[in-house]
Amino acid sequence: KHLEAVPAMSDTDFAFAVHATDGQARTGAITMPRGKIRTPAFMPVGTAGTVKAMYASQVRDLGADVVLGNTYHLMLRPGAERMARLGGLHRFMRWDGPILTDSGGFQVMSLSALRKLDEQGVTFRSHVDGTAHHMSPERSIEIQGLLGSDIQMQLDECVRLPAEREAIEKAMRLSLRWAERCRTAFGEQPGKAMFGIVQGGDVPELRIESARALADLDLKGYAIGGLAVGEPQAVMLAMIETVEPHLPSTKPRYLMGVGTPDDLMRSVARGIDMFDCVMPTRAGRHGLAYTRHGRINLRNARHAEDTRPLDEASACEASRAYSRAYLHHLVRSDEILGMMLLTWNNLAYYQDLMAGMRVAITEGRLDAFCEETRAGWARAER
Ligand code: GUN
Repeated sequence: KHLEAVPAMSDTDFAFAVHATDGQARTGAITMPRGKIRTPAFMPVGTAGTVKAMYASQVRDLGADVVLGNTYHLMLRPGAERMARLGGLHRFMRWDGPILTDSGGFQVMSLSALRKLDEQGVTFRSHVDGTAHHMSPERSIEIQGLLGSDIQMQLDECVRLPAEREAIEKAMRLSLRWAERCRTAFGEQPGKAMFGIVQGGDVPELRIESARALADLDLKGYAIGGLAVGEPQAVMLAMIETVEPHLPSTKPRYLMGVGTPDDLMRSVARGIDMFDCVMPTRAGRHGLAYTRHGRINLRNARHAEDTRPLDEASACEASRAYSRAYLHHLVRSDEILGMMLLTWNNLAYYQDLMAGMRVAITEGRLDAFCEETRAGWARAER
């Protein structure tokens, strides 16, 4: 294939079909012009136009159908208008599949300095060069359009937990008003989608109110935000169970910023279709490997003379062909290749886990699959 070949884009509209269910879990596909997203799906995080330490082609080869980009980072550097002049994020990073972009609100609150939030949006200073910026719901959608995003997220306010009910309620209501403004700003864009984000912290009534109000907006998909922000896993799972019955079953459900392999399995069992998380990529840059045998810290001295690979049965070269001793050496020496190999291994494990769950749901044996997977982590092998 010639390097500059332009991929054929189909003229399909954004559509979600459930192919099989197992309890609350479902497997299916989102089809859109840039390709098909098999669900449940894990979206590798490509914050700044790169899934860190990975080639776009490698990410694709692992079975990822969609990657995530961040409005906040890309608007600051290289800039939204510049990205549009350069032909958009897909061409820029050489990823021709669907791209989902987060709206920026969440990253502003966690990364920028001197942020101020009001009805009109967020004002903040860049963590890159200190310049002042303003982002309204309308500007967030405009930027996501300039980036070329296929699935855009509403601007929202996410409250870290624990928090006072009053603060949670205020953020949830503001997020609902911003959802309407984002929907209006997005308008009708065949083949693309704008998702709403359920907020409401750990307060069931607020979660339900948020989910119902968003459902009334008839959006193309629904995210659950404001979770994995400091609460125990049991609270997160309880909130998913609270929200799920109030979201339309015909639309994809996306749990933002989650999680560990165990979080993914328990959330899929509760009806979640899409995930994103920095965990596999970030952990890979910190010497941690997710494997069938559990999480392995390659920094640990016990790996220094271990000639076994991370997973002899994996289809991924990083997992199968390099010894733990070599990975230990690379990590201890702060070698770039250590980060590359562990990121590669971790994304392979995450994608294999999702593929395994998709098959298990089709066969009506998701619970058994999850139990077997957990039993593998518990074995003393590592
Ligand atoms: N990423 C993880 N959680 C959230 C959230 O609540 N909102 C947004 N916009 N992004 C997120």
